[in-house]
Amino acid sequence: MKNLLFLLLGLATAAPALAQGNNYAQNYHKYEGLALTPPMGWNSWNKFACNVDEKLIREVADAMVASGMRDAGYTYVNIDDCWHGERDAQGFIHPDSKRFPSGMKALADYIHSQGLKFGVYSDAGSQTCGGRPGSRGYEFQDAQMYASWGVDYLKYDWCNTEGLKAEGAYKTMTAALRQAGRPIVFSICEWGTDKPWDWGQTVGHLWRTTGDIYNCFDCIEDHGTWKSFGVLAILDKQEGLRQYAGPGHWNDPDMLEVGNGMPENEDRAHFTMWSMLAAPLITGNDIRTMSPQTQAILTNKEVVAINQDKLGVQGFRHSAKDSVETWLKPLNGGNWAVTFLNRSRRPQPVTFDWKATPIVDSLSKTELNATKTTYKVRNVWAKKDAGTTKKAFQATVPAHDVIMLVLRK
Ligand code: GLA
Repeated sequence: MKNLLFLLLGLATAAPALAQGNNYAQNYHKYEGLALTPPMGWNSWNKFACNVDEKLIREVADAMVASGMRDAGYTYVNIDDCWHGERDAQGFIHPDSKRFPSGMKALADYIHSQGLKFGVYSDAGSQTCGGRPGSRGYEFQDAQMYASWGVDYLKYDWCNTEGLKAEGAYKTMTAALRQAGRPIVFSICEWGTDKPWDWGQTVGHLWRTTGDIYNCFDCIEDHGTWKSFGVLAILDKQEGLRQYAGPGHWNDPDMLEVGNGMPENEDRAHFTMWSMLAAPLITGNDIRTMSPQTQAILTNKEVVAINQDKLGVQGFRHSAKDSVETWLKPLNGGNWAVTFLNRSRRPQPVTFDWKATPIVDSLSKTELNATKTTYKVRNVWAKKDAGTTKKAFQATVPAHDVIMLVLRK
């Protein structure tokens, strides 16, 4: 009896400590069950940088619906840097009241009412890259605030993090998001510096593998203290990372530049390669005013389906010849996506003899063997069936462009 009394007393005193969630009882594991296919949506940064306000975000949400983007699978409407105002006397973050006079909860409600989801951006350091308040030292309060607004996606950047270790800093925010109690997709934006693929799988749902994308197909932009990378440069930096990707945890080669000024062929190649990589498809253009060509690229159902294939296997470069690379991505049901990418500024012929080239992917334990199986061939961008694998494939790939095929059993 006496023992029981002590036990009860002990429990009663421990309960408040547990309820407050002291640091020793945190859960440092992300929410499972989110982003089982690569996340799809829109983010403000690539087109609008710091020029964000609630009018823009509402208009983009409207346009996501009207343009068919939502129905094509693009769910998240994410505000990147510069939405922040000040912290209040208790330390809680609030949006810039001039730019977001109705507040974040009202904006989230509006986005949700359109059948979309809402994302925000913060930074593990003292300030964001744009000089707004960062979450360092405020992780639990910020996560609580985001949850109260109805946030569904957090991109978490890495500026001004002197003295922090990436894994620990990101885990702190993971624990904060758990504590806040709302399932939020956690996007690790640490630019690949500390190899997030090695530790990110239990911490977040996607991780940037490189520095920022630059709106250019084949160039690297030197900003003095940092560089940003065109489509091909980013593509090349994905080498060796495919084993880390899978349902719930994706390599993120950065957001799309489709519709931001590259010619249509380069936009098509960019979108195709991100689909082959099972990359998150976070668009970065002005959805309100996009051209029919841009819309057709972003909402191409067959290409999106390759990206979203539920097997969740990142594609790989199989071979390269005369500036034409052959990429393969195993798909559910023993099917395959095949892309010929022409990196050169001239059209290039391509021949692929399926029967002469049996392919085994040891990672996914799948095989493309046209001597055993005859696959039907579909030319995805041409929206045409293209015979079977009994015959070698022959075509000309235009400059800075792709031919994308799906092989079905
Ligand atoms: C970093 C990120 C970008 C963007 C900006 C915002 O550069 O990598 O994607 O979020 O910060 O300032």
